[in-house]
Amino acid sequence: MKKRKAIPFVTAAILSLSLCTSAFAADLPEVKILATGGTIAGTAPSDTQMTGYKAGALGIDTLLRAVPAINDIAVVSGEQIANTGSESMTTDIWLKLADRCNTLLSDPKVKGIVITHGTDTLEETAYFLNLVVRSDKPVVMVGAMRPATAISADGPVNLLNAVKLASSPKAVGKGVLIAMNDEINGARDATKTTTMNVATFKSPELGLLGYFANGEPFFYKETTRRHTKRSEFDVSGLKDLPRVDIIYTHVSDDRHLIDAAVKQGAKGIIYAGSGMGSIHKDAEPGLVDAQKSGVVIVRSARVGNGMVVAASKEWTAAHFLDGDTLNPQKARILLQLALTKTNDPAKIQRMFDEY
Ligand code: SIN
Repeated sequence: MKKRKAIPFVTAAILSLSLCTSAFAADLPEVKILATGGTIAGTAPSDTQMTGYKAGALGIDTLLRAVPAINDIAVVSGEQIANTGSESMTTDIWLKLADRCNTLLSDPKVKGIVITHGTDTLEETAYFLNLVVRSDKPVVMVGAMRPATAISADGPVNLLNAVKLASSPKAVGKGVLIAMNDEINGARDATKTTTMNVATFKSPELGLLGYFANGEPFFYKETTRRHTKRSEFDVSGLKDLPRVDIIYTHVSDDRHLIDAAVKQGAKGIIYAGSGMGSIHKDAEPGLVDAQKSGVVIVRSARVGNGMVVAASKEWTAAHFLDGDTLNPQKARILLQLALTKTNDPAKIQRMFDEY
């Protein structure tokens, strides 16, 4: 008679663990990860190299394998949408992301989405999606300031927190969120504030929305501005967005870059003015002419904080619009989307007042 072989203890333990895990997995929320590259997927030749590394070198599967604890939180699966440093993010990738988010979130099984992204333009992608994703389900943006190969890389814990947030009912209806450095920031107000420090995303003056403690998200507030499900913008079927350029003022500014923008076919210009969106007297005639030729002009500020509201009678008469608290790069996104619907200045000002 053949003797039955005893199953070694470790094998048995693994077997029962995997049975438990798969039984347990049935109860876990389903979270999709869309990867786009950035430092979170970056590698350097040594663990002390924190700059000059290759962003977007690792695929999403490698990132997920590095954080096995994610499998205790959610059933995750990844899709590689792009693999780029985010300084080279494109409208093309944005439209693809918007489309994937809307398709995936319409599946009742999917509870949320995490998007891995470089930090350089993460706030722009976050705000774009905040305006075009038509779902209340959580969409969480995550990046890292240190490459995956660095000592104390911040990517793994940020990714773990992001998956936790994307699967949390607390994040429903809050708009697109940013999970980095144990903090939760909202897409509209957050901006990258420092070039190398891991504590880079802040919502200056308007403040963060919450924290993570032991991987658990805690919210303290939410934005009052329209987003996601309450947004009027729809980019499905679009192949591109209208061209909007940002002109950044300085001492001895003039109209040359404004004229060049118009010549290149800009449909809108964000003027990153000094102070409360002030316009240099030598640049102003260029903006007036641009507006007369049909280009929509929005005053924003290079200051980084505070509102831009109506100021001089001349600017109001010239139909220059007010960018409110949006920084120039976010004002650009709202104007691009506004121009997909109208070029009526009054209607576009209403959008700047609401979003
Ligand atoms: C990038 O934005 O892709 C590079 C920088 C970073 O991710 O921190």
